[in-house]
Amino acid sequence: MHVFVTGGTGLIGSAVVAELLGNGHTVLALARSDASVSAAEAAGAETLRGGLADLNVLRAGAAQADGVIHLAFANDFSTADAVAHAVAEESAALAALGDALVGSDRPFVTVSGTPYVPGRVSTETDPPPTDGPVGGRGRAVMAVLGLGSRGVRSTAVRLPRTVHNDGKGGFAGVLTDVARRTGVSGYPGDGAQRWPAVHALDAAVLFRLALELAPAGTSWHAVADEGDAVRDIAAVIGQRLGLPVEAVSPDTYGPLGPIFALDQPSSSVHTREELGWQPKHPSLLDDLRNIQP
Ligand SMILES: NC(=O)c1ccc[n+]([C@@H]2O[C@H](COP(=O)([O-])OP(=O)(O)OC[C@H]3O[C@@H](n4cnc5c(N)ncnc54)[C@H](OP(=O)(O)O)[C@@H]3O)[C@@H](O)[C@H]2O)c1
Repeated sequence: MHVFVTGGTGLIGSAVVAELLGNGHTVLALARSDASVSAAEAAGAETLRGGLADLNVLRAGAAQADGVIHLAFANDFSTADAVAHAVAEESAALAALGDALVGSDRPFVTVSGTPYVPGRVSTETDPPPTDGPVGGRGRAVMAVLGLGSRGVRSTAVRLPRTVHNDGKGGFAGVLTDVARRTGVSGYPGDGAQRWPAVHALDAAVLFRLALELAPAGTSWHAVADEGDAVRDIAAVIGQRLGLPVEAVSPDTYGPLGPIFALDQPSSSVHTREELGWQPKHPSLLDDLRNIQP
């Protein structure tokens, strides 16, 4: 397939592009800067110049592809306004991509997050959160999945809190950045809350499988580690950086604080059984040992 990919230069998207190219597909990558064009072309993709706010560019990219994988997101969690802007920009982009695909029966794979379900491990049948600071992302994903009844083979790959590669990425990456800045490897609350995780190279395989195989309206969990206690994550970070490991206020993490405080383990049993996905790369706690002081 010739696949239009947004976010193809990111931590996860670059792994997805490599996975597609290594399995007989070609890639048209959305690229918003000279640096992104160079990176995508060096990886072997064609590029289409533009950003998520350029809705006509998105429609043109989708129109000339056999399928779409969407990953781009302005990962700016510094303020509530920044988060709201990123969510609104992505929601409009998803609507434009979806419009371009209606009636085509082509696959549209979008990114989502594993849900939080109080008191138990979440599964693929649980709905995404549609409230809270990133609730708009859940609503936009539900709209994409709804295109299944309008001739789009739409599907969502739900990512866990940490998608990592070489010790970097995701919520664990935020803990590392804050630890470097503050001199304390902190964890919110008592640190017993569990976060799921996956290696980016394993997540990339699931994006390809979803593109190739997933029926319309389905959701999948790219979860390799069902849930690591956050204090265990902080302990490895502290050990690698030579910093004390301590409980800190959730406020330390700005708008993400309330999300960081939640116990949110997640399962991928259904995904493994249905799509034959089998993660092979290092677990989060092993990969974090790649952090350099
Ligand atoms: N990493 C994780 O642990 C994790 C966990 C759950 C969900 N996710 C989701 O997975 C997706 C990819 O995450 P990631 O970790 O790979 O992110 P990342 O490394 O920050 O990459 C973001 C990608 O999006 C592109 N992008 C950002 N804003 C854009 C805009 N306005 N217009 C066009 N392109 C834009 C970036 O392009 P440039 O190269 O030009 O900057 C880059 O290719 C995001 O939706 C993220 O929320 C990630």
